[in-house]
Amino acid sequence: MPSTRSQNQPTLQFPRRKSSRLGSRPKVPSVNTVDIHATPLSPIKTNVLDSRSIPLSPRSSVLKNTSLSERLPLSPRKRTGDENGCNLPTSLLGSPPKQSRPALCSPRKLSFNENKPVFSSPPRPVPSSPKIPLSPVSRPSPKRPQESACFRLLPQTEGKTPVARLFSTKNSGYQSVKQALHTAVPERLLSRETERAAIVSFLKNHVVEAKPSSLYISGAPGTGKTACLNCVLQEQKALLKGIQTVVINCMNLRSSHAIFPLLGEKLGISKGHSEARLAKCLTGSGPTVLLVLDEMDQLDSKSQEVLYTIFEWPYLPKSRLCLIGIANALDLTDRILPRLQAKPHCRPKLLNFPPYSHEELNAIVQDRIAQVSGEGLLDAAAVQFCARKVSSVSGDARKALDICRRAVEIVEASDRSKAASEPSTSPKAASRVSVPQVARVLSEVYGDRMASRGGEDGESFPLQQKLLVCCLLLVIRNGKSKDVQLGKLYEVYSKLCKQRQVGGAGQTECLSLCSLLESRGIFTLKKAKEARMTKISLRIEERDVENALKDRTLLGSILAAGLP
Ligand SMILES: Nc1ncnc2c1ncn2[C@@H]1O[C@H](COP(=O)(O)OP(=O)(O)O)[C@@H](O)[C@H]1O
Ligand SMILES: [Mg+2]
Repeated sequence: MPSTRSQNQPTLQFPRRKSSRLGSRPKVPSVNTVDIHATPLSPIKTNVLDSRSIPLSPRSSVLKNTSLSERLPLSPRKRTGDENGCNLPTSLLGSPPKQSRPALCSPRKLSFNENKPVFSSPPRPVPSSPKIPLSPVSRPSPKRPQESACFRLLPQTEGKTPVARLFSTKNSGYQSVKQALHTAVPERLLSRETERAAIVSFLKNHVVEAKPSSLYISGAPGTGKTACLNCVLQEQKALLKGIQTVVINCMNLRSSHAIFPLLGEKLGISKGHSEARLAKCLTGSGPTVLLVLDEMDQLDSKSQEVLYTIFEWPYLPKSRLCLIGIANALDLTDRILPRLQAKPHCRPKLLNFPPYSHEELNAIVQDRIAQVSGEGLLDAAAVQFCARKVSSVSGDARKALDICRRAVEIVEASDRSKAASEPSTSPKAASRVSVPQVARVLSEVYGDRMASRGGEDGESFPLQQKLLVCCLLLVIRNGKSKDVQLGKLYEVYSKLCKQRQVGGAGQTECLSLCSLLESRGIFTLKKAKEARMTKISLRIEERDVENALKDRTLLGSILAAGLP
């Protein structure tokens, strides 16, 4: 789920705080380029870009011919928020100040199977894991030095202390596996054949044929929407020759209206960037324009006029615009459809990315490890375990990669501390990452419910989401309004979890879960300035909730008991 890890978030660390948006930079417009909206990177990342020539891992050679600037920008929250530094370009080393991440440190108490009945006995105690010192790279530092992680880890340490020497000999193994488990745009995309084919067909039938149209891509976070589109645009460069391609990540905008001047700049409109002028330009002479708007839900505004205007552009007489919008919510276009419905031909084509299955997640992680021959370092059973757990919650590839990478770090740190305590012993082979380490990370990320053996295979609706739906129903029934603020919902949910002796998700995860429910088409989220003011309403009829939850017992019991 979208975890927003933007650094300047005072209250809840929620994904889409407009306050975390970054200003747009003017950029010289270019025809036939995938136009990256350059967001200022953090110093370390900027510097990292400068260090591209340094030979790093086997992967860097794979990537040496890939221009970084040609890749789709990841959303800022994913970039700035990636404590693992793994949203850095894939050729680069980067390691995380991960311990600063509250979610990983939260002492939540959850029973292991989030889908089992919640009326059970109190949560089991989980064996406390040994405190492992953080590696220098993962230790959080308020100000990261102006150098990339690779500088800090590469041979500088060599020859200094026995520990450093010992560690550096093993470093490459851990390091390359950690790198391979990055969450930046991959150079090889697995599965998603159907979705790829749908995008290619849109490009061929509309963009290349100069038949203006729109495509809306939806799907929960980490389901590969951005990565897939990026790969298709890269692969189809030849096909898109002569097409003016503009890619904008809407997360970078200060406000929804800021899209217009930015687009004006990218299209090379010299004076005035008003909507009217843009419409005139897009209906005037010139090449076909392919506009890709990632994180498009950021354009959500009162009365949806920005989204409506943009969705209408392809259908203006003599338009030369093809639009591809990407966002999490299944119903973004539904919300503006009442106005588009007057002109049925204006309805965008829809493409949904379903969550990844455990087989797919397993294949994605295994493929990354195989790229650096790291199979010896990560047990196949551990990867499988992670894939099953993540697919049972969200099917988010980013999360699966993050969890495996974190498990590697734990083992690396443990090896490092062992080496420090026995400096005289000769270097040993790197330890393997197996199920216990992955279970530990899963427990840190999801709570203890994920730490033990599973059992929720086949279960489609995780307990935490069920509880949130029940809470929303209760609050709506007890109040007058049809929507509830996130702050209030969280309050009721926390009480319910306490009452039922279930470890609850933290506030950040709660919003993530709401977004997941939004992408399942059960909740509607209306963003507000403050994340906790986000208004949440039920998108389905009350009577359909039981059906959606497939858990009459739980629902009945909670509703009968009333507000906690
Ligand atoms: N099919 C895939 N094959 C390989 N890696 C993937 C795949 N899908 C997702 N990933 C990894 O997960 C990351 C997050 O995916 P992304 O496309 O950003 O998700 P979304 O845009 O749906 O939130 C990607 O950058 C990539 O590293
Ligand atoms: Mg994305």
